[in-house]
Amino acid sequence: MSIITDIARMWLTRSAKPFIFRNENDSILHFGECEGLGLYIHIPFCTKICAFCPYCKTVYSKPLCDRYINALIKEIHTVGGQYNGKKTVTGLYFGGGTPALAADRLKEITDAVNEHFVITEGIGAELHPDNVSPEVLCALREAGVTKISIGIQSFGMKYAGILGRNRPDAAALKKALANSGFETVSMDFIFALPGQTAEDLKTDIETAFECGANHVAVYPFIDFTFAESGIKTMPKKEKRALLDRITDFCSLKGYARTSIWTFASDAEAKYSSMTRDNFLGFGCSATTLLKEQFKINTFSVEEYCARVESGRLPTSLTLRFTRRQRMVYYLFWSIYSTKTDARDFEEFFGVPLSKMYGRELKAAKLLGFLTEENGVYRLTPKGVFYYHYFENFYTLAYIDKMWGIMRRQAFPEEIRL
Ligand SMILES: C[S@@+](CC[C@H](N)C(=O)[O-])C[C@H]1O[C@@H](n2cnc3c(N)ncnc32)[C@H](O)[C@@H]1O
Repeated sequence: MSIITDIARMWLTRSAKPFIFRNENDSILHFGECEGLGLYIHIPFCTKICAFCPYCKTVYSKPLCDRYINALIKEIHTVGGQYNGKKTVTGLYFGGGTPALAADRLKEITDAVNEHFVITEGIGAELHPDNVSPEVLCALREAGVTKISIGIQSFGMKYAGILGRNRPDAAALKKALANSGFETVSMDFIFALPGQTAEDLKTDIETAFECGANHVAVYPFIDFTFAESGIKTMPKKEKRALLDRITDFCSLKGYARTSIWTFASDAEAKYSSMTRDNFLGFGCSATTLLKEQFKINTFSVEEYCARVESGRLPTSLTLRFTRRQRMVYYLFWSIYSTKTDARDFEEFFGVPLSKMYGRELKAAKLLGFLTEENGVYRLTPKGVFYYHYFENFYTLAYIDKMWGIMRRQAFPEEIRL
């Protein structure tokens, strides 16, 4: 399987050199000159662990969560204090885990962030459906949260069983979300579960919008090797047919496609933590992407706290990009929004996109994956499907391998991808 990603990587980076992540820990992070910088904060606590979920998480306990948040605030001050003045950033996203479990302390965290950064595009936070109560929503608003994302996964009884979760209570969600005042209310769904039909998904999407969502994310199920979910993956053909039917349904209903996986009933509603040119990540497992490096914090909550308490950054691995590697990384995530603008690429790298990847773009247009107008490249529906398809290989060859190791070792010596 990794042969596909290996060939693609060598061809696109014009080099046999893999992505090499080393156990290196820079004490100073050069984010000052980064434009379009985003912030991400990881809260790794859940009340119940879902077997299918690959993210870095542990069972919630109040003392551990408190210790963790104290360390998190210290990490924010350590990194934020390296910039002279306040750095302007785009958005701040709280991911997990279940950040809403720490709702009573989110304001302390955003206060720490606001000491060093000026946030221009609002704050997002993830919730489990059980957290959607007036008290929690009020605490989130007080912390400055403007966008929420609720992990529904499915409103169907059958899929709640497959996923090992309780079925979300649509009526209770609707009541709690009425006039909630958030700019974006997004709901997450997983598609391509065994036996799932287009009708099931249409019902899920319609129920979400009826309950007060204005944005939905429909993620293809990914079977991570270490997750041991026991859930069978859907064959490619069926998956494609399902994706086409959801896409047609959403376009018929007038829901705008806002990225590969997301649709919005209000085109202004946005929720995306990964499509940033650069970002700083705080907390265990959080990643940081800068112009020349990508770093990932330790996955161990205990080691994370110990490192930060001792005054060091909790970095586990650092990748120093070659220029072409950085370009590939940039294009992979910018095209996730279904379009990429050649002018932005040129501004970021100081060289025309056509000069670096002219042949590939021409071939992608000929194959019907992309269209181009005035230097803006857009994915066609066929292009979206193949992005989905390739992303699955990428996830299994890169993320699955890396996270599999990081879950076992707090500070691995080296990982080559
Ligand atoms: C970090 S999780 C937050 C979930 C939230 N804590 C909850 O339990 O509802 C973000 C989203 O990733 C998606 N996700 C998790 N595991 C997945 C998998 N194996 N395949 C595809 N999507 C997955 C789910 O839709 C989930 O809502």
